[in-house]
Formats: sequence, C-alpha cells, structure tokens
Amino acid sequence: MALKTDEIKGIAFDAYGTLFNIASIDFLLEQVFDDRARQIAAYWRRKQLEYTWLRTLMGQYKDFYDITRDALYYALEATNTSATEAQVAEVMQQYYHLDVYPEVKTALAQLREKYRLAILSNANPSLLEKAVAHNGLEELLDAIISADQIHQYKPVPGIYRLAEEGLGFPAKNLLFASSNTWDVAGATAFGLHTVWIHRKRSVMERLDVKPAITASNLSELAEMLL
Ligand code: LAC
Repeated sequence: MALKTDEIKGIAFDAYGTLFNIASIDFLLEQVFDDRARQIAAYWRRKQLEYTWLRTLMGQYKDFYDITRDALYYALEATNTSATEAQVAEVMQQYYHLDVYPEVKTALAQLREKYRLAILSNANPSLLEKAVAHNGLEELLDAIISADQIHQYKPVPGIYRLAEEGLGFPAKNLLFASSNTWDVAGATAFGLHTVWIHRKRSVMERLDVKPAITASNLSELAEMLL
C-alpha cells in the first residue's frame, strides 16, 4: 500500500458522493419531474460543479446552496421543463436531508477510535450541519470545514490547506477521502495523502497525480486503516 498508515492522524472526507448520497434526491425528482428526472439530475450536478469552478476563476463567490439552485434552474431550462417556485423549493430542501451511504456511520465510528475526522466540503456550513444532523453524525466528527471560509471552491489549494487547521495536523499526517476524481487530484496536488472512494464506475483523471490508495467504500477504508 502506497500509504504509511502509522503517519496518518486525521482524515478529511468530501461530502457529496463520498458521505452523502445525492441519489437520495432522485426519488423526489421523479415524483416532481417524471420522465425528465434523469436528464435534469445529470445537468444539475454537472452545472453545479461547473459553477463552483467558474465562479472561483471569475472571483465571484456565491455560496453552494445558491449555486445549486442556479444550477437547478439551468437544468430545468435546458430540458425545457417548467416548474413552480414551490417545486424548486421542495427539491432544494432535499439537500438538507440527504442520506449517507449505508456503511458510512459504522465506518466513521470505527475510524474515530484512532483518527480525528472532519468533513471538507464546498458546501456552506448550514447545508453540511443539517445533513450531518439528519444522519446523526455530530458525535463522529471533530470538524466541519467549508469552502465558505475562503470563498473559493475545490480544487484551489487553499481549501485543502484548511484541513491542516481544522484537524490540527500538517498535511503529511492527513488523509483526504473523496469519490470525486477531480477532488482527489486537487487534494493530491496540494500535498495531502489521498484515498479514492471508488463507489461507481469511473476512471481516474489524467492530471499527473494519483491517489495513494483506492477503496470501494468507507468500510473497506476502515479495514485498511485499522
Ligand atoms: C463537496 C463536493 C465536491 O462536498 O462533493 O465538496
């Protein structure tokens, strides 16, 4: 394993796609938007990411909740879907109530025995805190670290630097876990040790950096680290 586990003292986790399952919105999307739901969901996630990157490049920060709503409106327009404000509000509310993947809580509890744990996410603190509370994760986390602290989004190096302050250890003692390949690349380029949580079929980015390890979910990660 290309990771010296005895050097690791803290682990920071990406939020969406790594801890929280965005697909938990799909059921509601299908109820509200019927057979357009899949297409809307695809546009929505893509535009949400693009807007974080574009706004960071433009120097025009807007918080993640508002970016997510802008992206949803884009997705609706792009798919020629009309929606009332109440429908948009209902779908957006789901962001506060996303479920974690099934193994997350048990794995975090196991890892917490040995490591300091944090979320390191683009999302604004109120979104993260409510999703954490919805899943009863408060006692399992030492810190919730948000891009809102620097008004820039991943993968700028500054956001990964926040992990050092938030977890109280230098980068060489920290592991960053993400299912998002571009996020893994950003954190690795910054100098964190990284694990790619390879939950679904996807390939690693060609950005000249590679994660130290790969795990299919957090239980497998806990097995590797404990
Ligand atoms: C986050 C997104 C990128 O939580 O998943 O930062």
